[in-house]
Amino acid sequence: MSLAGINIAYPQARKETKPVFRVFPVSLLLLALIACGTRQSSSDPPDDVPRAHDAPAQHDDHATVDHQFDDIERWVAAFDDPQRDAWQKPEAVVDAMALQPGMVVADIGAGTGYFNPYLAAAVGPEGKVIAVDIERALVAHMTTRAANEGTPQVEPRLAAPDNPKLAPAEVDRILLVDTYHHIDGRVDYFRALRGALRPSGSLVLVDFKKGDIPVGPPERHRLDPMMVEEELSTAGWRLVGSPDILPYQYVLVWEVAPD
Ligand SMILES: C[S@@+](CC[C@H](N)C(=O)[O-])C[C@H]1O[C@@H](n2cnc3c(N)ncnc32)[C@H](O)[C@@H]1O
Repeated sequence: MSLAGINIAYPQARKETKPVFRVFPVSLLLLALIACGTRQSSSDPPDDVPRAHDAPAQHDDHATVDHQFDDIERWVAAFDDPQRDAWQKPEAVVDAMALQPGMVVADIGAGTGYFNPYLAAAVGPEGKVIAVDIERALVAHMTTRAANEGTPQVEPRLAAPDNPKLAPAEVDRILLVDTYHHIDGRVDYFRALRGALRPSGSLVLVDFKKGDIPVGPPERHRLDPMMVEEELSTAGWRLVGSPDILPYQYVLVWEVAPD
């Protein structure tokens, strides 16, 4: 399957180059803009110490963005805004992942854990949700959240910018929501990530469409899905689906390409 054959409906692009957004809602929009407007570093941290904020930016692609995700209150207000549910449709995203009770799923760039309760419900008490993030404060927040929500199957895990810290064949499913564009060196990152998947595993990638949408980062930080396809194909993945379930984001389902 190729994106050339997939109908991804984009809203009409505005003529002006400067992004202009409607108020929907203002607080979420502003926070989302801030959230995705800067980038994480690609420098190598020690194994469990994220160094997103002490190293200079080293872009090798213009779409990667850096940001500090350690202000918990701010990100809870943005990522867990109840109004997000209307367009994020977390149940529909989780349905698209075809999770089964007992499966192990990793959410890379899990943030405040917005998807964790939905993933936990889908895999059930016998399954596991590995909630990966590179921000220590977010990982701590997700640990508290899992206790408060009574989801012991959620295991927050501190990763490094260039390494999700998943063991070989550890997971059945991988989810990335609004995180792909934060990762540097994506071809190498995703080539290595194939090893974390069990046979019949899949990767579900959700990110913001280009065009005039009321939420998400500035258009220059949103990646064309054709570019995502090119990068992931080079990294040894094949596109197996593109369910048209979200108004402002594309959903791309990937499997490891046969040798
Ligand atoms: C825009 S937020 C999305 C959060 C969450 N997926 C959601 O939809 O609410 C991006 C998240 O990715 C994390 N992140 C950035 N670079 C990362 C990397 N290389 N590996 C894992 N997480 C990363 C950030 O710390 C942040 O929590």
